[in-house]
Amino acid sequence: SRPIGVAVLGMGNVGTEVVRILTDKAADLQARVGAPLELRGVAVRDTTRTRDGVDPALLTDDPMALVQRDDVDLVVELIGGIKPARKLILTALEGGKSVVTANKALMAEHAGELSKAAEDRRVDLYFEASVAGAIPVIRPLTQSLAGDSVTRVAGIVNGTTNFILSEMGESGAGYGKVLAEAGRLGYAEADPTADVEGYDAASKAAILASIAFHSRVTASEVHREGITGISAKDFDAAKKFDCTIKLLAICERIDVDGEQKISARVYPALVPLDHPLATVNGAFNAVAVEAENAGRLMFYGQGAGGAPTASAVLGDLVMAARNRVFDGRGPLESTYAGLPVASIDEV
Ligand code: NDP
Ligand code: HSE
Repeated sequence: SRPIGVAVLGMGNVGTEVVRILTDKAADLQARVGAPLELRGVAVRDTTRTRDGVDPALLTDDPMALVQRDDVDLVVELIGGIKPARKLILTALEGGKSVVTANKALMAEHAGELSKAAEDRRVDLYFEASVAGAIPVIRPLTQSLAGDSVTRVAGIVNGTTNFILSEMGESGAGYGKVLAEAGRLGYAEADPTADVEGYDAASKAAILASIAFHSRVTASEVHREGITGISAKDFDAAKKFDCTIKLLAICERIDVDGEQKISARVYPALVPLDHPLATVNGAFNAVAVEAENAGRLMFYGQGAGGAPTASAVLGDLVMAARNRVFDGRGPLESTYAGLPVASIDEV
């Protein structure tokens, strides 16, 4: 098949890793997609900075021109925030290009408008990386559990605050120092207020509630409380009750006077030390899903950081590219029959 042209917008923590994998794993990706993925350009703010592993000729500070190029089939948005990401994604979708994004802030507010643009042009808009980094949680909710009724989604969905709270709880480390470390490790948002004040977790809760309960929930509808008020004294008090402190996001269907409603909230909570969430430390996340027939499911893994998030982005990219190559028959399961027979060691 003809090559799939890819444009990457943003080459920061996540974009750098996406470009690295696209380059290093080109042959594997081609085999899974059924066509080569060719990088047409990478949009950044500062084109004068040296970017390891990227031909300088591919760099541009004009993302709008890049998404409009005829030889671009697939746009990966990793700039973050609403402006200019919203306009760039809309332009790409309206131009018939599929889009992969890790942008929770945008999806939490504008998913309706963006999904409609994707549907109108029958292209894909995938956002697995927008919630819980490497952990597959969007696809399980939208596909694997599509025949069930989800009643509750709850857990730890922000790596930065979990890293800070884990360090404060374990070693009594100071808040400011740990926050700076979270930034250095590539966990924190460009403006870490989004993490520590709970806005990032609220955006993720809005996305989870929307897809789990098939309703539109926006971040501003999520009750939000951050961790800036938490001090060493709170951890001392928590310990007396055999608890630790975690920033939780809880989305559930509730019955109010016989009427079905949705509750979505983010706040720091006491978690008993013997509860599974108490052992989720560092930038790890965990999401528990409860569904009427499946019962309780637990998803756990790295919730932030360049490479883990790039894994989720690449998964979406392969799916979106396959959909273009195979005209909508994207899932890799469909290729099972064509796989080469493995050579297996006798034991
Ligand atoms: P960074 O701040 O590290 O990178 C942002 C990139 O976008 C930079 O390369 C920057 O250019 C570029 N950029 C910013 N504005 C523009 C513009 N107007 N035109 C062109 N390029 C621009 O962000 P991250 O990589 O950490 O995050 C990217 C997205 O992924 C965000 O939506 C974030 O919420 C999401 N995400 C991040 C995770 C993480 O662990 N970091 C995990 C899950 C999701 P320059 O390099 O020149 O400054
Ligand atoms: N800043 C986010 C976090 C990145 O710390 O969880 C992952 O979405």
